Amino acid sequence: MLLAQISDLHIQLAGAQSELIQAEAHLSRCVDTLNRLDPRPDLVLITGDLTESGKKEEYLILKPLLEKLDIPYLLIPGNHDSTAMLRASFPEHAYLQGDTPFIQYTIDTWPLRIVALDTSVPMHSHGELCAARLDWLANTLAQEPSRPTVVLMHHPPFNTGIKLMDDIGLLQGREAFTEIIAPYRNIERILCGHLHRTIMCRVGNTVASTCPGTAHQITLNLGSPSALHFNFEPPGYQLHSLGAHGLVTHHAVIGEFPGPYQF
Ligand SMILES: [Fe+2]
Ligand SMILES: [Fe+2]
Repeated sequence: MLLAQISDLHIQLAGAQSELIQAEAHLSRCVDTLNRLDPRPDLVLITGDLTESGKKEEYLILKPLLEKLDIPYLLIPGNHDSTAMLRASFPEHAYLQGDTPFIQYTIDTWPLRIVALDTSVPMHSHGELCAARLDWLANTLAQEPSRPTVVLMHHPPFNTGIKLMDDIGLLQGREAFTEIIAPYRNIERILCGHLHRTIMCRVGNTVASTCPGTAHQITLNLGSPSALHFNFEPPGYQLHSLGAHGLVTHHAVIGEFPGPYQF
């Protein structure tokens, strides 16, 4: 099974920042890149911050761009999304629907089980996992304790060292989350977004990783800057391939580069 992961699309309405970021054009290039992949991924995982402000008009721009994907895709919300608008904009995505305040779901139809958590907090940038969300996770993992599983969540459950992003990281429920997942040996990976770049860290008995943004990247600065910056390092995606020895991850960039040249 081959999964592609993209993240932090930040589709936004016209404005000064949108001209700079060009989120729509970047997403189009990303979709074209994924559609050209051979072998084609079975599924695209999109790990949150689908829009900039959670506005209906932004989801109206997002949806036709995603519908150009030749590959089925799964969505999770990030801190820039709106649960209500996301559900209303993708009514045919049954896994998003329900009357719960959070969008958490499992997909059990693939060799790799997908468990999606919602770390978003309405009107805030940071993430949380409250008791209700953690209880759901504990019960869900207990149902399939040996099947290969990935957990999706927007805010990563570790400090990255990019301080101003850690300040708006998963601020509540992180220790309890780690305690819940620690006994399981079947969690291949915790796949996250929010950081707009690739970062990895051991969490419990597995590895948590973040994915590049499809448009702008968070500047790598492990010092103590007074402000958070983004830049236009090449955007990217990840490919997660499930084989006999577990999940292997490739980081890939989007863009046109010289080559290939034969060795
Ligand atoms: Fe983001
Ligand atoms: Fe985010």
